[in-house]
Amino acid sequence: MKPHTGTRTLETPRLLLRRYREDDAPFMFARWCGDPAVTEHLTWPAHASLDVTRTVLADWIPRYDAPEYYHWAVTVKGLDGPVGDIAVVKLTGGDDISVRCGEIGWCLGRAFWGQGIMPEAFRAVRDWLFDEAGFTRLCAGHAVANPKSGRVMMKTGMTRIGTARQAGIDNTGIVDMVLYDLLPGDPRL
Ligand SMILES: CC(C)(COP(=O)(O)OP(=O)(O)OC[C@H]1O[C@@H](n2cnc3c(N)ncnc32)[C@H](O)[C@@H]1OP(=O)(O)O)[C@@H](O)C(=O)NCCC(=O)NCCS
Repeated sequence: MKPHTGTRTLETPRLLLRRYREDDAPFMFARWCGDPAVTEHLTWPAHASLDVTRTVLADWIPRYDAPEYYHWAVTVKGLDGPVGDIAVVKLTGGDDISVRCGEIGWCLGRAFWGQGIMPEAFRAVRDWLFDEAGFTRLCAGHAVANPKSGRVMMKTGMTRIGTARQAGIDNTGIVDMVLYDLLPGDPRL
C-alpha cells in the first residue's frame, strides 16, 4: 500500500485546491461558514461570528502535519480567498489490511453554486487519492432532501448504493441518507 501523502496542492483548469491559511477566515465566513442556506444539510451549524471561523481554522491548520489529513480550500484562479471546502471527512482501513476508504465531504459558497466547481474539485481530489495516495475506495452521502449534492456524485461517476434510513443528522434533524461509492477501476466521469 502506498504511503499517505497528506494535503498537496492540486490544480485544475479553473481551480487551485490548497491547504488553508489563517487569513482565509474572512472569506470562509462570508462565503459559506456563516450562511445557513449552505449549512442546512451539513452536520455543523452556520458560524455565528467570524471568531468561530477563526477558532475552527486554528484547529484545522496544525492537522496538516499528519500525512493522513486530506483537507483542501477550494480557490478559483484569479479570485482572492477560498470559495469552498473539500475533505476526507472519515478515513477507514489501515496499512496492514490493504483497505483505505475515504468518505468525502464538500461545501461551496452559495454565490458559486451551479458552475460545476465542486465536480471539478472532486475529480482532482478523486484522482489524487486513488492514483497517488493509495485509496482503495471513496464514498459520499447526501440527505434525501439535498439532491444537488447527489448531482456532484452522479456527474463524477460514483455509484448509488442505496438509501440508509435515519442514518444522518444535519441541521434539519435526523435524515435518510443516499449513499454512493467509487472504486479506482470505475469509469471516472
Ligand atoms: C452540493 C454543492 C457542493 C454542489 O456544488 P456545485 O459546484 O454547485 O455543483 P454543480 O455546479 O454540479 O451543481 C450541482 C447541482 O446543484 C443544483 N444547483 C445548481 N445551481 C443551483 C442554485 N443556484 N441553487 C440551488 N441549486 C442549484 C443543480 O441541481 C445542479 O445539478 P445539475 O448541474 O445537474 O443541474 C453545493 O450545492 C453546496 O455547497 N451545497 C451546500 C452544502 C452541501 O450541501 N454540501 C454537501 C453535503 S452532502
